[in-house]
Amino acid sequence: MSRTPTPADRFSFGLWTIGYRGIDPFGGPTRSAMDTRYAVEKLAELGAAGLTFHDDDLFPFDATDAARRTEIDRLKQALADTGITVPMVTTNLFSHPVFKDGGFTSNDRAVRRFALRKVLRNLDLAAELGARTFVMWGGREGAEHDAAKDVQQALARYREAADLLAEHVTERGYDLRFALEPKPNEPRGDILLPTLGHALAFIDSLERPELFGVNPEVGHEQMAGLNYAAGVAQALYHGKLFHLDLNGQRGIKYDQDLVFGHGDLHNAFALVDLLEHGGPGGTPAYDGPRHFDFKPARTEDDAGVWDSVRANMANYLLLAERAAAFRADPEVQEALAASKVPELAVPTLADGEGAAALLADRTAFEDFDGAAHYDGRGYGFVRLQQLATEHLMGARG
Ligand code: GCO
Ligand code: MN
Ligand code: MN
Repeated sequence: MSRTPTPADRFSFGLWTIGYRGIDPFGGPTRSAMDTRYAVEKLAELGAAGLTFHDDDLFPFDATDAARRTEIDRLKQALADTGITVPMVTTNLFSHPVFKDGGFTSNDRAVRRFALRKVLRNLDLAAELGARTFVMWGGREGAEHDAAKDVQQALARYREAADLLAEHVTERGYDLRFALEPKPNEPRGDILLPTLGHALAFIDSLERPELFGVNPEVGHEQMAGLNYAAGVAQALYHGKLFHLDLNGQRGIKYDQDLVFGHGDLHNAFALVDLLEHGGPGGTPAYDGPRHFDFKPARTEDDAGVWDSVRANMANYLLLAERAAAFRADPEVQEALAASKVPELAVPTLADGEGAAALLADRTAFEDFDGAAHYDGRGYGFVRLQQLATEHLMGARG
């Protein structure tokens, strides 16, 4: 068993995750709607720190101003009563039929202008609630038909939107940064910014790139067959890991949104080890919220929803314990050294050394004897991975 989570663990959950009613393309809801106050109280009881939401999770798309305010005020009261915070807010630009060809990148200009207004309004709400991160998941920004979308123009419109939102945040003096969430497909056949790499490259094209980072989701990278922990490491390398969505996925298929740890457990171990400790070569760790974006299975009732919430946090904490034991194990330290993992932190060139000096160094090339250098010895990576596996399975320390 893991220890009980506390707010210091910074676990947060989307209102749409615990509130997921089990609707899928083949069947209707299996659970009734969840009241926001109940959700906040349960999260507090279970030791979570934060609640996140889309505007339309809190109040309906067509809510009157008064009805919208009533829901916001009810949420604020629940937050005040429980100590739960709102670290992140996001906007629904995908459910309403008007967004069927996207929000910021719809071919229809009026839809794009409406989408901008919807998000601007929600930015003000995010600031009102003290959120520090605003997630942009462009689920409908994409296409099924190559002939129907000019991808370069779509990216230009996406950039236009991002620049406007950043201008608004800057002008209003909000302490808010944006996190782009990549996903390869679903609901669109192909989504713009399908992977972490696409999103990172796109950020470079923006007017205020410093305000933009990424919100990578476990399952989304794995749907594309990519290594999530490695992608997160690259986001950290660029200083762009602003937020993240933890969940589970089993292979290249539809977006499963399983409980964190119920998918690729080895990669989840590598991820938690990285988030908690940074890379083994002394590279940065992560200090933001540990946010879960999962869907409680539609087979579950209300008790099953909270079992799932507990399972997400328990698996993170168990993996964190296992990762700490892995790092502290002298045999692991010795195996890391034998595998030359720390040596990767040593720059390839000496201080001030340039191309001319390297060309002049005969030991680097002319006198370098590859065969003699390795003397047939292996790197011992399998032994190292097995030590990780044994720690992961609780078979050591
Ligand atoms: C998905 C996405 C969403 C987004 C959320 C934030 O279902 O594929 O992960 O859950 O994270 O909508 O905008
Ligand atoms: Mn998902
Ligand atoms: Mn997500």
